[in-house]
Parts: sequence; C-alpha cells; structure tokens
Amino acid sequence: MSTRNLYNRRHFMQLSAFTAAAAAIPGLAWSNTGRIKSAPTPGFNPDVEIEFTTRNAHIQVLKNGPTTNVQKYYARLLKGPENTLIPLRGNYLGPILNYEKGQKVRIYFHNRLNEPSIIHWHGLHVPQKSDGHPMYSIAPGERFVYEFEVMNRAGTSFYHSHTHELTAEQVYQGLAGMITVTDDEEKKLELPDGEFNMPLVIQDRSFSSRNQLRYVHGMHGKMLGFLGDTILVNGQPNVTFNVKSRAYRFRALNGSNSRIYKLGWDDGTPLTAIGTDAGLLEKPETRPYIMLAPGERVDLWLDFSGRPVGSELVLYSLPFRGAMPPMYERMRKGGGMMRGGMGMMGSRLAQGEKFVITRFNVTENVSDSPRLPKKLVNFQRFTENDVDNAHHPIPIGISMKPMAPQLNGKSFSLDRIMNFEKVPVGSIKKIKIFHDHGMKKDEHEAEGGKMAMRGGMGGMGMMGGGMMLSMAHPIHLHGQQYQVISRKMEGMRKAEYDTVKDGFIDTGWKDTVLVMPGEEIEIIKPFQDYKGLFLYHCHNLEHEDLGMMRQFLVS
Ligand code: C2O
Ligand code: CU
Ligand code: CU
Repeated sequence: MSTRNLYNRRHFMQLSAFTAAAAAIPGLAWSNTGRIKSAPTPGFNPDVEIEFTTRNAHIQVLKNGPTTNVQKYYARLLKGPENTLIPLRGNYLGPILNYEKGQKVRIYFHNRLNEPSIIHWHGLHVPQKSDGHPMYSIAPGERFVYEFEVMNRAGTSFYHSHTHELTAEQVYQGLAGMITVTDDEEKKLELPDGEFNMPLVIQDRSFSSRNQLRYVHGMHGKMLGFLGDTILVNGQPNVTFNVKSRAYRFRALNGSNSRIYKLGWDDGTPLTAIGTDAGLLEKPETRPYIMLAPGERVDLWLDFSGRPVGSELVLYSLPFRGAMPPMYERMRKGGGMMRGGMGMMGSRLAQGEKFVITRFNVTENVSDSPRLPKKLVNFQRFTENDVDNAHHPIPIGISMKPMAPQLNGKSFSLDRIMNFEKVPVGSIKKIKIFHDHGMKKDEHEAEGGKMAMRGGMGGMGMMGGGMMLSMAHPIHLHGQQYQVISRKMEGMRKAEYDTVKDGFIDTGWKDTVLVMPGEEIEIIKPFQDYKGLFLYHCHNLEHEDLGMMRQFLVS
C-alpha cells in the first residue's frame, strides 16, 4: 500500500512536469494543454449525456472463494436512447456503450480512485481534448468533461484508462469496456441483432490463492509483457454461450495487456470476419484462423446453422510462434516452461500456447437464419495517389533497448515533437512501421546466430538490444482508422511467421496493427478534422507504460 502511495506522489509530480513541458513547446499554446478543469461548453447540445465514475470495487470474478478487488467504471445515462448504456452486472468491465453516428455526446467523468486517471475512447475519432491524452489525467476527486460528435462509421471500439505509467495496471485492474457504433449503412444490412449480436471481450488474468489479481513487476517482466494464466471472456472465466442453430455476430475485442490470440475452431472450420477494428469490411473474409493482438477488434460472423442441438464448438487460441524474443521461443520449444513457477517465461501460460477461449453449446434448433451478405459496405480504398508523401513515408521505427522499448529512437515525452511528427490537418499520409535495431540486415543475422549459441536469459540485460529482444508489437495510432497497404517479412524468423501469417485481415479499417519480428508494414492514414496531439504507441500496455509511445502534432 505504502509503495503505491509513494508511486502516486511521484506520478503527480510527473504530471505537473508534463504540463510545464507542454506549455514550453512552441506552437502548442493554442492546444490548451494542462490540467484542465474542464466544464461543459455552452453551445454544445448533446443527444447523449453520461456520467462516468471510476472507483475501487469488489467483484465476484471467480465462481468460488472471495471477491476480487478491482477498479471499475460505473456509468449512469442522463440523457439519450435507453440502449446507450448496457451495464454488465457483477462484472469488472465497464458498461457497453452503444452510439449512433452523428450523435453528440457529453460525458462527465468523475475520478473516485485514489490515484490519477483518464479515459480514452480507442477507435473513436474525437478532438484532442476528448481523446483521453494522458496530460488530461485528473487527480482523485476531480472531474473531466468530454464532448464529441460520433463521426465514426459503424464498428466496434474500446474504451480504457490512458494514465501514463498507470495505463497497463489500471486496464488490468478492470478499467475497460466496449463501444459499438451503428449507422444507416449498417442498419440496411440487417446483421444479427439483439441477443444475436454479442460482445466477446477476451482478457487474461492471474489470480492469487485469495482470488486477488497478480501483476508483473520489474523491468524484465514488463519487457516481455504481462501474460496471465486465466482466460476471461466478457469478464468471466470458463464461459459457455448457449446458442441457437443460426448465425450470430460476435464482436471480439482483445482487451488483454500483452497476450495475442490466434482465434480458431477446434474442428478446423474456418472463421468469417465481417469487420476489423472500428469498421465493417467491404465483403466478408474467411480465414483458417484470425490473429487478434491487444487493442484489435474483429467482428465475427459465427453461423451455427445445421449444428444439432447438443453439439459443442470450442473456440481456441491455436498454437503459434514468433511473437516473443528468440530465447523465449527456444525455451518454450525445449519445454523449459518451469511449470508451477513463473520463471523467465513470466506466466504458466506462454505466449503462443494453445488454450480454450470459450465454448458454444447449441441448445435450440431454429429454422430461420440471416444469410451472410456478399457485400457489406462501400469502401474507399486508399492508394499512393491519395498521399502527398509516397516517397517519404513517416517512419515508426520500433526498437527494444534492454531497458527502453522505444519508437523512432525516443521514449514518450511532451517536450519534443520531431519534425516528421508534425502533420498538417487534412492530409493523408503514408506511414512505414518497421523494426529498427540500429543495425543493417546482415548484422541482424550475425547477431541472431551468435545468440543461438548462448544459453540462459541472464545475458539479456547486457546485450545491446537488437534482435535479441525482437518481438511482436501491436502498433496503435489514435484518431482516424487507417488502411494497411503492404506487408513485407524479412529476416530469419520465417518459419515462425508461417504460423501466424494467414490470420491478418488487411482489407479493412484498422487502428492497431500487429507487427511481427522482421515485418515491415505500410499504412495510409488520414489526419482530418482535428488539430492537436494524437498519440501513437505500442498497445502491449507494459511497453506503452515503459515509454513506447510518441505523438503526432496535427496543425
Ligand atoms: Cu487503446 Cu492509446 O490506446
Ligand atoms: Cu486509442
Ligand atoms: Cu511493444
């Protein structure tokens, strides 16, 4: 308890340092940075008004034994359609927020935790001041007002805490929830609705024998990220859905800190997606399996038609390799799991191991089911002709120094915006995301070879970083969704890559993209409507908190 209080005090000091630094950036004066005691804007007439509170709570997460101490979002609808808020009772997850495109939303946020906090609406395209930038973190007892218009197309988004250096732990403690947006184009499709339109929030946790949440501590643990050994779906363990023999829409959201899922059925049936991150696809995509990294969403079309009553389908995370540093992968393969202990693997359930996510029991036979539409929504596909920097993409270079996962060679700070991080409002930019080990490719191979000779993880801290620490990073950009235009895989980890490569859906709108070791991904992203500071970061939340975050200044 006392360490936590000390930590908080340090954190407050840091927040004020942020504010001072932000005020010092030339050109930032207009952006109204600082610890805003924000108030409702007089001319803004909301269609939806919600009061959000975050506080400590005790929730019966596990079926037996004591309740678990969590941090939780509570919400109350003050104005707007009744289905705007769907509370999940007896659950640490916040309520599901259902918005319609065009709605004006005002949210009063009240922090009743004993540490700073702020909410980010991951996937929503909103002004800087309502984006939950960590500089707006409010102290215990303070209030913050968000106002925005829902500009998004229909899709699934994600809200969570975004308090710098506390994001990972607060999300882990429970500060997260799902957002859905609908619009006229989606309504015309008559996709499964009501009880046939379900959330599928996937998270992993680790519990003590007293049912309390255990988290990773220390730099080494955090470099590998938090990996829990208990899988929760919609905030509960061992979830079985009772379904009818017809089609469902399941909105899968990876709300885990670091765990990556490879979604697939036990009987080899392929999976069909109708949407990615915050948007529907132009047409459905069917895959043997689908990769889902932290922060990503995939809208699944699960059709149980023709399955007899009594049949059970198991949704697995199928085995895969290559997301973790080479040494970790070798220990896994060698059975070096140190079961019962956490050891260097950080968890009894390794990244890439096979496990059950959830089960579906067919309990009722029905004869009518909606058909999967051949065409979903109109899709505006970007090409290089839409961008003004086709030959000079904005870089996002991922590097893992032993004590500092970074982007573009820098840790998060407010006091310096690099030139290429300044983007004119209204522009559409090409961005290249790649692994930057500060070495040329042949040096990579040399280092990788050398490392293969070594044993033990003891050398990790002493290595100069580079390939040794190369792992997968889900890279998230705030603001509008982008499109992936190319993926290139180079380097020596191709065999591992083959275990994941068919699971990436690049034909939709994305705001988070998993970059495997050796991969180089090009995206096209619009920076329209709003000026201000918009973050880009790794959505491995431990990495984010270690500073693997930067920002664009849109002006
Ligand atoms: Cu879901 Cu900046 O994050
Ligand atoms: Cu976000
Ligand atoms: Cu990362």
